[in-house]
Amino acid sequence: MRIFGVDETSIIRTIVSNMAQAQFTTHHGMVDILPEEAQKWQFIETVIRETARSFHFGEIRTPVLEQTPLIARGVGELTDIVSKEMFAFNRGEDQYVLRPEGTAPVARAFVQHRLEQRGGVQKLFYIGPMFRAERPQKGRQRQFHQFGAEILGSADPMADAETIAFMVTVYQKLGITNTVLKINSVGDPSSRKAYKEALQNFFQPHVCHLSPISKTRLESNPMRILDSKEEEDQPLIEDAPVITDYLSDAALEHYAAVKMHLDNLGIVYQETPRLVRGLDYYTQTAFELSSPDLGAQDALGGGGRYDLLIEEIGGQPTPAVGFASGMERLLIACEALGIQLGEPAALDVYIVTRGEAARAWALKHAPELRKMGLSVSMDYAGRSIKAQMKEANRENTRYAIIVGDTELENGEFTFRNMVESSETMLRFDEICNRFRPL
Ligand code: HAM
Repeated sequence: MRIFGVDETSIIRTIVSNMAQAQFTTHHGMVDILPEEAQKWQFIETVIRETARSFHFGEIRTPVLEQTPLIARGVGELTDIVSKEMFAFNRGEDQYVLRPEGTAPVARAFVQHRLEQRGGVQKLFYIGPMFRAERPQKGRQRQFHQFGAEILGSADPMADAETIAFMVTVYQKLGITNTVLKINSVGDPSSRKAYKEALQNFFQPHVCHLSPISKTRLESNPMRILDSKEEEDQPLIEDAPVITDYLSDAALEHYAAVKMHLDNLGIVYQETPRLVRGLDYYTQTAFELSSPDLGAQDALGGGGRYDLLIEEIGGQPTPAVGFASGMERLLIACEALGIQLGEPAALDVYIVTRGEAARAWALKHAPELRKMGLSVSMDYAGRSIKAQMKEANRENTRYAIIVGDTELENGEFTFRNMVESSETMLRFDEICNRFRPL
């Protein structure tokens, strides 16, 4: 490709050579997850997968890149996510965006693969990275991870309750109980039309007191004013009409049924009539789970019903409901509460070697131990026995096998119990027997 008449490859070469002296780091708001941390992530992922299994949700993995118009139409052109926070680029005719959330992609997959033809309701969950170009701070990153679940094809309030129960169960299993579940109904289209008008009528006479951002929302999306964090908007928001007074009979009935099911499940909630969510696809139920242990970014997760989204992106009318939660925020909450996420990984066997023949022996015999399900490591750098033992200790090793020329000649090796600091001389088959169940 040529850009302004210059060959693309030569531009890239210039950029790379200019950067040759620089130290490469991750982008702002994006972090590496190193092994000690990754082990905590694995623990949490196991809890999520176990919860998904118990609710009988199947996993879905969608691409990280989606078509920009899908996200724009699905999430809403006027939302912060679409208007300010997308990582989007074009390649030829195609418009790519790093997915900022998982619901529109799942809805796209539902339509693309005609999942409705499989009959019944589709219950899907996902875990994966999402991207939003927000201003990074504690609990807010530009690449972050969500786990979420969606029920597609049911308008029943039981589906709303099961979705919320799935989300709440993950936190309960991990021991995060200090949470607040806020719920609301944002109504069906007829309720929302009436409410939108009521809000416009209410805010219009006070427009000069609204913040600049809220002023821009008054015409297009007055419900988002309720979500404003601007100080000058707060007194007006406090007196604004509440949606519950504008809900149609059908919406009120749905909302009442959701609350009844939550009561039956023993899930405590706070009705929050001014709860509006930052994505445009919601209809009826909306909810958010927050934690006082998180600081400013206190939303652990959120979700709701989105009965019009699938039709909006080209599918048959299909009611649906779901939630998504931030994994980083879950980890912050665990840390604040001192919840231990699994044990640091221990090493079963370290083969300590002296000399080339011993190193070759270690490489050859490790697979036999690994086949028995043991974790096995060894030295790859020809270091001293002392250095290798030091490493074995650092890696929380249970047993060391010490191999040198004399051991190889005699066919017997020092088998050291690192926990008890005791050792005996054993043949390799005797060592293997020690690890076999009786
Ligand atoms: P959301 O409220 O935009 O909803 O995001 C859900 C959760 O993702 C938030 O509560 C938060 O924990 C986490 N999160 C969002 N942005 C960031 C960020 N920049 N850094 C760290 N964590 C973040 C959705 O995404 C909807 N798709 C939820 C849904 C599913 N609705 C129906 N189905």
